[in-house]
Amino acid sequence: MDAQFWNMKWQKNQIGFHLPAVNPLLVKYFPVLELKEGARVFVPLCGKTLDIHWLLQRGMNVVGVELSQIAVEQLFSELALTPQITDVVPNMQCFQAKNLTIFVGDIFALSRALVGSVQAIYDRAALVALPPAMRATYAEHLMDISDKAEQLLVTLEFTLEYDQSCIAGPPFSVTQQEIQRYYGAEYAISCLENTSVTGGLKGGVPATENVWFLKPE
Ligand SMILES: C[S@@+](CC[C@H](N)C(=O)[O-])C[C@H]1O[C@@H](n2cnc3c(N)ncnc32)[C@H](O)[C@@H]1O
Repeated sequence: MDAQFWNMKWQKNQIGFHLPAVNPLLVKYFPVLELKEGARVFVPLCGKTLDIHWLLQRGMNVVGVELSQIAVEQLFSELALTPQITDVVPNMQCFQAKNLTIFVGDIFALSRALVGSVQAIYDRAALVALPPAMRATYAEHLMDISDKAEQLLVTLEFTLEYDQSCIAGPPFSVTQQEIQRYYGAEYAISCLENTSVTGGLKGGVPATENVWFLKPE
């Protein structure tokens, strides 16, 4: 999944991952993060999620990163915000408005200095958007640029009787063992919920949606 793949998805408006409402799992489990008003929350691979609207309404400062400029322009437009746009590093711009900073470019080009201090990460459809070969690098990089901030992580897992390799992602299935492998050395990992996805995924493949709280150790 390279930049071209995602940019094409946004150009063609093939954004089935974009929810038409705030994710109820964020609303339900946000209190677990115990954030104070004004805390900075990092949203990797953010798209134009309505979850950002909700976080802003809750008094959070939001920092995001997203490859697609179309997504980011739509995000600001839907929030009725006019961004200040600056060039930060080659191939990356920063769109900023009150309490909202979105980097437009590849997350792997982001540094801790650019992100600044963040108190939490909200990863929904980010880890599962990446193919297996990129996930360990992503997890390492995410911990690095956030200084191992706590995480609310929402993943998908197809049920075991299916051969995972036959199911083309994204989204990809991410197992509990994988999450343990990526994050187990640095975080205490709790599964807050796992729920069957109604109607399955990818044309009916049974799957669960899992919510994890990653607390730095
Ligand atoms: C499955 S979507 C999820 C979007 C959002 N988290 C949501 O819940 O609606 C994944 C998003 O990540 C973006 N993306 C993919 N690879 C990226 C990368 N390396 N750096 C930044 N954004 C990326 C894509 O353009 C896409 O909008």
